[in-house]
Amino acid sequence: MFLDTRNHASNWQEIYKLATTLIQPRPIALVSTLSADGLPNLAPFSFYNMVSANPPVVMFSPSIRRDGTGKDSLNNVEATGEFVVATVNEAIVECMNRCAFEYPPDVDEFGKSGLTPRPAKFVKPSLVSESPANIECELVEIKRFGREPGAGSVVFGRIVAVHVDDEVLAGDGLADPARLKAVGRMGRNTYAKTTDNFDLPRPEEA
Ligand SMILES: Cc1cc2nc3c(=O)[nH]c(=O)nc-3n(C[C@H](O)[C@H](O)[C@H](O)COP(=O)(O)O)c2cc1C
Repeated sequence: MFLDTRNHASNWQEIYKLATTLIQPRPIALVSTLSADGLPNLAPFSFYNMVSANPPVVMFSPSIRRDGTGKDSLNNVEATGEFVVATVNEAIVECMNRCAFEYPPDVDEFGKSGLTPRPAKFVKPSLVSESPANIECELVEIKRFGREPGAGSVVFGRIVAVHVDDEVLAGDGLADPARLKAVGRMGRNTYAKTTDNFDLPRPEEA
């Protein structure tokens, strides 16, 4: 098949649905923020990655809702300049999914999901206790791709601290996928496990 996307305004939902079955598996950031009034918020984002090593920077991308409103996570980061990304593993995937319900801004998704907040070291939003890894971030900048429904904003955050449960570490001090059991997002409502791995050493010459 072939899809002409140049006039995307008429078929952006079709492009989005197709692309998310192609650009996969995607890591899932469970993003913890505080509103300007100090209300906690927790929401998953699979448009998420690390984009710079030095300085260490991650990004996640909240889009404008179909009704034209902005997501709480974006409003909160814009207002406070801080967020925490918790890793989503098999044990908390259903709790994560409950956080994706479009609750009004005054609803604390920690309570709705059964997840427990724990104080961070350098930022005000909480860590997610049940997650094996939490990354504290300070806002670097926000790039907006518009204000129309479906328009994404990319939130860039500098990593200021990383918390990892010792139980998920391998002997080399890095996370062991078999213990971390992170889940990835596919297209539709499908998820991927990350425990079926293989190694491929870099070639020594071209
Ligand atoms: C696994 C998963 C991944 C998601 N990824 C994104 C994403 O990358 N961008 C986005 O705007 N919404 C994404 N969503 C939907 C948001 O989580 C949902 O709109 C949520 O209610 C936003 O919460 P907030 O308004 O509290 O920020 C995702 C949902 C799920 C379940």
